[in-house]
Amino acid sequence: MTVRDFQQAFDEKIDKEIAIEPRDWMPDNYRKTLIRQISQHAHSEIIGMLPEGNWITRAPSLRRKAVLLAKVQDEAGHGLYLYSAAETLGISRDEMIEQLHSGKAKYSSIFNYPTTSWADMGAIGWLVDGAAIMNQVALCRTSYGPYARAMVRICKEESFHQRQGYEILLNMSKGTEIQRKMVQESINRWWWPSLMMFGPTDDDSPNTEQSMRWRIKRFTNDELRQRFIDVTVEQCKILGMTLPDPELKWNEERGHYDYGPINWDEFWNVVKGNGPCNKERIATRVKAHEEGAWVRDAALAYSEKQKKRNNKTDHQAA
Ligand SMILES: [Fe+2]
Ligand SMILES: [Fe+2]
Repeated sequence: MTVRDFQQAFDEKIDKEIAIEPRDWMPDNYRKTLIRQISQHAHSEIIGMLPEGNWITRAPSLRRKAVLLAKVQDEAGHGLYLYSAAETLGISRDEMIEQLHSGKAKYSSIFNYPTTSWADMGAIGWLVDGAAIMNQVALCRTSYGPYARAMVRICKEESFHQRQGYEILLNMSKGTEIQRKMVQESINRWWWPSLMMFGPTDDDSPNTEQSMRWRIKRFTNDELRQRFIDVTVEQCKILGMTLPDPELKWNEERGHYDYGPINWDEFWNVVKGNGPCNKERIATRVKAHEEGAWVRDAALAYSEKQKKRNNKTDHQAA
């Protein structure tokens, strides 16, 4: 078979919605795009543990502590599924971690904002995990098999994350005046960065067209952003809170909410490493990795020992 035959077989699979699997032939750029996207996604799960991890010791009750702990632990699991999915494309986990720590690889810019009040645990679950779900549900049907399967599992947990966040805000919004103020202040800070999570507008997203053709992406950034806004506005009404956008208005003709301009300068600035917490996040991550070296060493030594022991028994049995 020539490259052209392989390419044709690949295109046919994509058209027929047959998943591409690790051993299948795939174009170099498809592989590269997926490695970039899946590893960025994995890094986002892992770095995403940090802003909420900061509040585990300060959770207001045992129940809240248990829930938050479970949620943060889930994110670690998501990171692991995704690193494994990326590894099937021929990159090692060490290489990905090195790219994250050196700043070569990106992760979602949302995690470079600080968490300054308990209400932020609510707003993150509701808005940040909510935005993530919009993206991830679409990815359950992405064309690369291991990525799609990881997403199915992840989505089940994400909907719990979204609800635990919303529940925090719902309770606080029925509380004292100070609690209501905390909720509103938190929503005001997280709203715009959540909208930025969907990435640049379609006109400004040069990779979208190719990714749509490969069926890695199923919807464009703007489509997903719009869908998120439409459902979130309604949920916000139930909280009795407002979203910090005076231009937010139902558009009968479009059947969607119109919204005000997003500050893309802020977005690019954070992506480039100048957000409020970029340096702190990477420093915390690198420190945790270094402090965990003994665990990795111990696990390796243990598996070596097991291997030797098994070899010996095989030998004796023979
Ligand atoms: Fe997650
Ligand atoms: Fe989550």
